[in-house]
Amino acid sequence: MIIKKAVFIQSSSKSGSCPTNNKPEFAFIGRSNVGKSSLLNMLTNYKKLAKTSATPGKTKLINHFLINDAWYLVDLPGYGYAKTSKKNRSAFISLIFEYLQTRMNLYSLFVLIDSRHDPQQNDVEFLEWLGINKVPFVICFTKIDKLSAVQLTKKIEHYKNELKKLWDPLPELFVTSAVTLVGRTEILDFIEKTMK
Ligand code: GTP
Ligand code: MG
Repeated sequence: MIIKKAVFIQSSSKSGSCPTNNKPEFAFIGRSNVGKSSLLNMLTNYKKLAKTSATPGKTKLINHFLINDAWYLVDLPGYGYAKTSKKNRSAFISLIFEYLQTRMNLYSLFVLIDSRHDPQQNDVEFLEWLGINKVPFVICFTKIDKLSAVQLTKKIEHYKNELKKLWDPLPELFVTSAVTLVGRTEILDFIEKTMK
């Protein structure tokens, strides 16, 4: 898969106002600051397409980017961001859940997990919710440039053991870095294969 063109289309505050669902769509989700917007920029090779920030909670709306005039990448708000108000947090969560339950053209959801962290309860619960609601998803471990190869292997094994309690077979897993571009080819190949 070669990305020739990537264009920001719109930000939506509810799933009902997203673009018409007549094109395949792949969305990024995960805790705030996990690297969703950075991964989207890395895949498209447009450094400033999606806004990134060191302050969690940057992405607040559903952002659609049209790729090669043919399919969408979608940047979703982060969940599990502790420093926002309860009201804001529940607004984010209902926005995300409504989108995931109604978006018929969602071919796959990329669930991003910071490779440095041990399994967090809200990630595990979210994955369970995806299973119950039959949302197709894969997992991407992010920021792997911040770990040594030995540390990374340990963390991923630990995570897989946690996932095995819920999943058989395990969901597809990718390791990624927006800095070193690890995982780019694998994810783009996955998108191509999934759209066929
Ligand atoms: P919200 O929109 O706030 O939910 O965050 P997000 O998940 O979109 O994260 P974002 O892409 O804005 O990245 C958060 C911070 O992590 C930024 O400071 C990025 O530069 C940094 N970051 C993201 N990906 C990587 C990575 O692969 N490696 C390293 N070293 N830093 C990264
Ligand atoms: Mg973001």
